[in-house]
Amino acid sequence: MNLKDKRILLTGASGGIGRHLALELAAQGVRLALVARRLDALQALAAEIKSVTDQQAYPVAADLGTNEGRQAALDEARRELGGIDLLINNAGVVDFHNFSEQDPAMIERIYQTNLIAPVQLTRALLPELL
Ligand SMILES: NC(=O)c1ccc[n+]([C@@H]2O[C@H](COP(=O)([O-])OP(=O)(O)OC[C@H]3O[C@@H](n4cnc5c(N)ncnc54)[C@H](OP(=O)(O)O)[C@@H]3O)[C@@H](O)[C@H]2O)c1
Repeated sequence: MNLKDKRILLTGASGGIGRHLALELAAQGVRLALVARRLDALQALAAEIKSVTDQQAYPVAADLGTNEGRQAALDEARRELGGIDLLINNAGVVDFHNFSEQDPAMIERIYQTNLIAPVQLTRALLPELL
């Protein structure tokens, strides 16, 4: 698949798998909106991408665990990239406590981030992805 000049919204770009994926995609000529909560990590990644690949990547700080955060991420990514061709739902949280010992607020966060966010982002972007 030729990804050169594709515009990709990548969630969970500030660390782990997402950070490595961003560097790989940028090396293939992809234009990226880098989404996560930690703006400083996203800015550092965008600077690394620029220096290694000469590609411009756009940090988009947003909490995907809320409706407001998801909408803000979509608005800013569309504005920066001028449209979106591909969505990569990578952001996620894990909690290794036994289920009966999990904090109810953490359960809420896990489902909002790992389930609701991918569903809502995909629904919102589907017309332009198709
Ligand atoms: N590593 C594995 O072995 C493994 C195995 C199976 C599945 N996975 C899944 O693969 C994905 C990436 O895993 P990983 O190991 O790279 O995880 P990670 O290192 O913990 O990175 C998670 C990423 O998601 C972002 N994120 C978390 N909550 C967010 C929120 N509310 N809003 C926006 N961004 C949020 C984090 O950024 P901020 O903290 O800056 O927001 C970070 O960039 C996850 O969905 C994980 O569940 C991983």
